[in-house]
Amino acid sequence: MSFIKNKKVSNELLDYSFLIKNFLPLKFGNKSKYFAYVGTYGCQQNFADSEKIMGLLKKSGFSIAKEKNLADIIVFNTCAIRSHAENRVAGNLGIIKKIKENKKSLVVVVCGCMTQQDEALVSIKNSFPFVNLILGTNYLKDFLKLLYETIISKNKTITENKLLKNDIPEILEDIPTHRASNIKASVTIMYGCDNFCSYCIVPYVRGREQSRDPTNVINEVNKLINRGYKEILLLGQNVNSYGKGLKGKVNFAQLLKKLDSIPGKYWIRFMTSHPKDITKELIDVIANSEHIPAYLHLPVQSGNNRVLNRMNRKYKVSEYLETVFYIKNKIPNICISSDIIVGFPNETEKEFLDTVDLIRKVQYTFLFTFIYSKRKGTLAAQLEDKIPYEEKVRRLNYLIKIQNEISSQLLRSYIGNIETVLVESEIYEQNILLARTKGNIVVKIFVKDNTKKMIGEFLKIKINKSTRTNLIGTIV
Ligand code: SAH
Ligand code: SF4
Ligand code: F3S
Repeated sequence: MSFIKNKKVSNELLDYSFLIKNFLPLKFGNKSKYFAYVGTYGCQQNFADSEKIMGLLKKSGFSIAKEKNLADIIVFNTCAIRSHAENRVAGNLGIIKKIKENKKSLVVVVCGCMTQQDEALVSIKNSFPFVNLILGTNYLKDFLKLLYETIISKNKTITENKLLKNDIPEILEDIPTHRASNIKASVTIMYGCDNFCSYCIVPYVRGREQSRDPTNVINEVNKLINRGYKEILLLGQNVNSYGKGLKGKVNFAQLLKKLDSIPGKYWIRFMTSHPKDITKELIDVIANSEHIPAYLHLPVQSGNNRVLNRMNRKYKVSEYLETVFYIKNKIPNICISSDIIVGFPNETEKEFLDTVDLIRKVQYTFLFTFIYSKRKGTLAAQLEDKIPYEEKVRRLNYLIKIQNEISSQLLRSYIGNIETVLVESEIYEQNILLARTKGNIVVKIFVKDNTKKMIGEFLKIKINKSTRTNLIGTIV
């Protein structure tokens, strides 16, 4: 892979924001405010992209609306990971049709992973002809240019495709970002994925892996910590392979170590880790760090070697367990979570039960479980599958039941502990704060008053009770 250019945000991009701003009264009439609504589907990475889209829209004169009905422009940033995600987008586009009938000037943009698939693209164009602009996942540098062209085209609806091809897209730095929280901030450290797990659409819709220049990552994290952010979430489809293709030869463990040395009171989390790329160096960095909490999301997908092989996951169950036990040994109080797919093509009952066996052995704090969804264009889509859907649902429910028992038991063991938590929000008018432990477990904290000023604080909490999903405590 060639060395990737990380460019500072281009002047062209800022020029287009200026042009759009000037054109708003002509397009939407003279108003004191123009509103943009951005709907996001899918993973944290899509949410991080949407924060940049909102940043660009704000730069172009829009205020961010929470209601679709208020909006002059609606952007849907879509996901293609499972058919359910695509159906939700289609359902919501149906609702937009009605809004557009009453507001002819409304501009509708669809972008993100769904648009990168030929079939979904044709279906959006045919079913929702009112969509003004469609663009793919490598769009940020072109977003405002295309939006400007759409807006000035008056009544003419243009549908332009700006799709990710096999080229290596440019990473633009310093794109204005509208952050949803002032406590937690996401920082994308790498784009794309090279792993081609046989069930997964991501490598096809997000392109090849590219890492951001470490200096840019460190500068961004530094700025966020200085601005008072308390939790930084480093994002990538496989953060463990960060650095591949970079000239300076820095790996993820080394990047983490550098970030950990930034002074201040903050936590650094990261996702997602691919088990095949977890190194002892990385685990040691986490174990010896000051700012990296004892939590790891380590998707296993299945507990059976034959299934893992058909999934192209490139590790065996024994290797996964070895990694898990090495981690638990080095970081004894660590919380581990995982993703599991049930009903992979022709998964037998025995293969499924191996997964149940694995979750019992690992003792995950929590689990994200999915029924396999066939994605056209992936290798697994060619596999024969005779397992009825109802059987897959039964397996999913059984797995969830077992995990619920494990979670309940694990969380019960926290009763009586003093835990350091980061307060994230409050339950309105109830004097309850919502926080998370280092291990990412939600804690409800009952307080007397003055809850607002504690949001964004690290507190010590005595745990008094637990449920299957959260802990309950009071301030020490
Ligand atoms: N890069 C991350 C996240 C990928 S998407 C990783 O490797 O873990 C998040 C999760 O969605 C995956 O871990 C997997 O469990 C699930 N997933 C991906 N494709 C799927 C499919 N076709 N059907 C069902 N679940 C899927
Ligand atoms: Fe998909 Fe596998 Fe890449 Fe994760 S690592 S995004 S599951 S191909
Ligand atoms: Fe979905 Fe694209 Fe993320 S397919 S899960 S939004 S990378």
